Formats: sequence, C-alpha cells, structure tokens
Amino acid sequence: MKLLGLSAGRKMGNSEILLKEALMAAEETGVEAEILRLHDLKIKPCTGCTSCVQGKNGLIFGGSGQCVIKNDDMPLFNEKLWESDGIIISMPVFIFQPPGYLKVLIDRCGPSHDQAFVMEAKKVAGGKSGADPRIFKSRVAGFLSVGGAPHFDWASLALPLMNTFTFPMEIKVVDMHQVMGSAIPGQVSLNDSALARARKLGQNVANAMGKPKEKVKYMGDDPGTCPVCHCNAMLVGRESMVECAICGIKGELEQKDGKITVTFSKEQQAISRLTLEGKRRHFYEIADVQREFDSRKVELPAKLEKYKSYKPAWK
Ligand SMILES: Cc1cc2nc3c(=O)[nH]c(=O)nc-3n(C[C@H](O)[C@H](O)[C@H](O)COP(=O)(O)O)c2cc1C
Repeated sequence: MKLLGLSAGRKMGNSEILLKEALMAAEETGVEAEILRLHDLKIKPCTGCTSCVQGKNGLIFGGSGQCVIKNDDMPLFNEKLWESDGIIISMPVFIFQPPGYLKVLIDRCGPSHDQAFVMEAKKVAGGKSGADPRIFKSRVAGFLSVGGAPHFDWASLALPLMNTFTFPMEIKVVDMHQVMGSAIPGQVSLNDSALARARKLGQNVANAMGKPKEKVKYMGDDPGTCPVCHCNAMLVGRESMVECAICGIKGELEQKDGKITVTFSKEQQAISRLTLEGKRRHFYEIADVQREFDSRKVELPAKLEKYKSYKPAWK
C-alpha cells in the first residue's frame, strides 16, 4: 500500500523532519512511502472559470472535469494522489494557518476531487461520467503542523484548515498533531517528544490504510469539540447556536462545572460537509443559485453596463 507524504516547508526544515519521522515509522509496518515537496512542484492557482463543472469537458455534461489550466504539475500531483492509499500532510504554520501553497493546491482539486459532486453530476449527465474512478478509492490521512511560536494561540487554524484538503475526497483523518516552539530549520530534531508523536502518527495512518471506513477510528490526543472533524474551531453567536467552522453543523452550548461543551445532534452530524450527504446537499443548493440566476439572466447586460465603463486609475 502506498503512503504519500506532502510537505510545504523549507528543505530539511521542521515540517520535513516531522514528515520523515512519521513516514519512517509507517514504512516499518510494511507500507511504501513517497514524499512530494510542494515547493518542488509548479501549481498555478484556480481562476474560478468553472470549466471543470460546465465547460465542454465539464462534470455535468459527463466529462472528466479535468482542469483547463495547462503546463503545470497538477497532472503529476493527481497521479500520485490517485495511486495513494494514505496521505500525511506536514506543514509549517504561516500566520496561524497552513501556508498559502496548500490553499492553491486545495482550490485546484475542486469539484473533480469531490466524491459527492462527481456522483451527483453523473446523475445530471444521465449516468455518464469521465471522472477518474480512483477518486472513490478509500483513503486515510494524518496531519502534522509545526509553528515557531511557543503557544498554540499562534496556530489556531493550522490543523483545522488542513481538513479542507481531505473532506471533498472523503479521506478519513485518523490523527492530527500540532508542534510548537520550533522556529529555526532543524530545531524540531531536538524535541524528542515531538519526534515520538510524529512516529505515532505515522503508525496510526499506516495501520488504518486499507481498512473499511467504518472500522477506522480517530486516534488524535484531543477528541475535539466537534465529534465529526475533531477540531475546536467554533463560530459562536450566529443564530444563537455554535457552528463548527469546518463541518458547518450547529450545536448547543452548555456550561457545567466550569467546563464548556457543545452538543451536536445525530441529525446535524449526519449533514456535516465531511459526510457525503452534507456535500450532496451543497451540490443541490448551488444548483438552486444557478436556477435563480437563469430566471433573471436577461437583466444582466443592463446591470453590468455601469461596471464595465468604470475604470479608476491613480493619476
Ligand atoms: C511568513 C511566516 C509566517 C509565520 N507565522 C507563524 C505563526 O503564525 N505561528 C507560528 O507558530 N509560527 C509561524 N511562523 C514560523 C514557522 O511556522 C516555523 O519557523 C516553522 O518551523 C517553519 O517550518 P519549516 O522549518 O518546515 O519551514 C511563520 C513563518 C513565516 C515564514
């Protein structure tokens, strides 16, 4: 079985060291590992053209949904991704989030990497689909993140946002771990407990690879406030409820004996965007937006006139 390691830090930097530690431990269990350093790849950003959905080769017309951007390394990345049974992402923290390069990659993955989107588009296309069937292979993932700051408040969105890479592909995250206080390249090699934890993560991912999805358990140290994504990134105050920023599900806040908990009903958990049903619902809510537009699109040329002619320029 194949385990893909993704890193986006400096060469022989802290994230690469943690990744290598995790992969070495994983390989001891018999899986085969490979590393892709994002900085060695040229991946152009998504322009938002939506050709992958509604262009000539778009998913809703039974096409492959392959991106129209040419001359970059996205085909190579896809090939490595589709071959893999497991993925470990190891990234530095940049401004309390993963680095922008991961976001560029995530946007390029788009609808053609979204299991629910591919399935529903196939229905719209009368049962035709040119999408790569390997998108439906069962995969698991682990996340490692390393920050230079001493405290976790400077890494608050790093691990949560890594889920935006895995959730469209239904990749089950089995473990995630945040390391802090490693700023200088190589500094993390002096942190024995961080190295040991990275090894554990590598073993957890390797042991989950190839297992049926329902048998894969989350092995992280912190079960998290959200029982679906295991993250603690909550939005408070919208509709007097608590919303999981990653899953989009609503829960109720309780404070007991000085401890804050959020309870998410089974119904809400079932429609997290980490589930196929949650993503399926999103496909149809987006279709409603398109229908609403179609019903008024004759008004568009007149409405756009004012913006076309406005061309501000500093003197
Ligand atoms: C642009 C930039 C922003 C950073 N922002 C943070 C941050 O918000 N929180 C943090 O803990 N470390 C931050 N760091 C420090 C890096 O996360 C840290 O040095 C890390 O070890 C780099 O990983 P690498 O050695 O794999 O490249 C930042 C570094 C850079 C270059």
